Amino acid sequence: MNAPREPGVQTPILDLAADFPILSRPVHGRRLAYLDNGATTQKPAAVIEAEARFYRESNANIHRGVHWLSQHATELYDGARATVQRFLNAARADEIVFTRGTTEAINLVAQSWGRPRLAAGDEILLSTMEHHSNIVPWQLVCEQTGAVLKVIPVQDNGELDMAAFEGLLGERTRLLAITHVSNALGTVNPVAEMTRRAHAVGAVVLVDGAQAVAHQAVDVQAIGCDFYAFSGHKLYGPTGIGALYGRAELLRHMPPWQGGGDMIRTVAFDNTTFAPPPQRFEAGTPNIAGAIALAAAIDYVQAVGLARIHAHEQALLDYGTRALQDIPGVRLVGTAQDRAGILSFLVDGIHPHDLGTILDAEGVAIRAGHHCAMPLMTRFGIPGTARASLGLYNGLADLDALVAAIHKAQALFGTRGGTAPCTGRAA
Ligand code: ALA
Repeated sequence: MNAPREPGVQTPILDLAADFPILSRPVHGRRLAYLDNGATTQKPAAVIEAEARFYRESNANIHRGVHWLSQHATELYDGARATVQRFLNAARADEIVFTRGTTEAINLVAQSWGRPRLAAGDEILLSTMEHHSNIVPWQLVCEQTGAVLKVIPVQDNGELDMAAFEGLLGERTRLLAITHVSNALGTVNPVAEMTRRAHAVGAVVLVDGAQAVAHQAVDVQAIGCDFYAFSGHKLYGPTGIGALYGRAELLRHMPPWQGGGDMIRTVAFDNTTFAPPPQRFEAGTPNIAGAIALAAAIDYVQAVGLARIHAHEQALLDYGTRALQDIPGVRLVGTAQDRAGILSFLVDGIHPHDLGTILDAEGVAIRAGHHCAMPLMTRFGIPGTARASLGLYNGLADLDALVAAIHKAQALFGTRGGTAPCTGRAA
């Protein structure tokens, strides 16, 4: 049961673990406290069933067959696109391109928008807190075009240095590629404001929404960004499916980045013409079942309500922050004012990997390491952190299990109260 434990702590409002079959599975003989939602979320029965039902009742290839089943599968796939459009409040369904996930969506923009347009000396602006998937695709395109990366620094509390951001924007800035929510710190960046400022210097804006969409309502028209990328598996949907939102007038002028079936209008050996977006960017048979199950995940999340999910997770975050701060020798990394459900921390004298292993034996699943954000770890002078990341099914009991397991680890290492030196400096 979710009940308040201390005065001043908000009450978590959701109790949905029963919708997620895997959460009733013990791990190492213990009740599972799944706190690795930043890596991937568990799936509700409704999503598992939607994918199975597609294969059981509707499976056929799309956009190809004249037979009934193919047309039926096509309708389901197109319906999934419309669901994503409404979810992001995109103006048009053809502004939604299905991809394998956020990483592929960003690579698509790098290769199809960036590579043909960028030239030597053009600047791509990103931040120290980016996930590698919003760094490496831009490094590759810089090598291909001569463009250069500029990096917005991060302050000690895990917020972006907005004054430095202002200073880095200029007439050479062609693109701002910024994460909506930091996967390693939970910082929520002011992406609407940043978009407005980047547009003022004529730059295009891509927002990495991988860690945002499951935690708060996202409206791409209100943000005003040109591209927005997210993954289904961090939104209670399947792996291998995600989406790119792209403003229609940009997508219209972008060339294909992969060739194959379904992305063409006509093919001849001397000239091939291409389908309009979004098909132009979806070469080959897509993840049809995945798209349909992603739509089921969106339906599930929307039935719960993103405002309620946000309130629930903020209450958990508040409770978890206080609980960790109360443990001697534990230090939070990332204490931004506006944070989504991530608790990144260090325990004095215990390497995050050792901590993760001990917590696992107690049934507490967290992620330990650099979180695919090595430049950010370098910024803080640490090899990595332990990260507990929240989902809509978590409750206070999961955080209590985390705290108890940390105490156990400290007892095992003889570091209770922070008597051993910490491996690094933290905010
Ligand atoms: N990007 C995922 C994470 O932060 C895998 O864990």
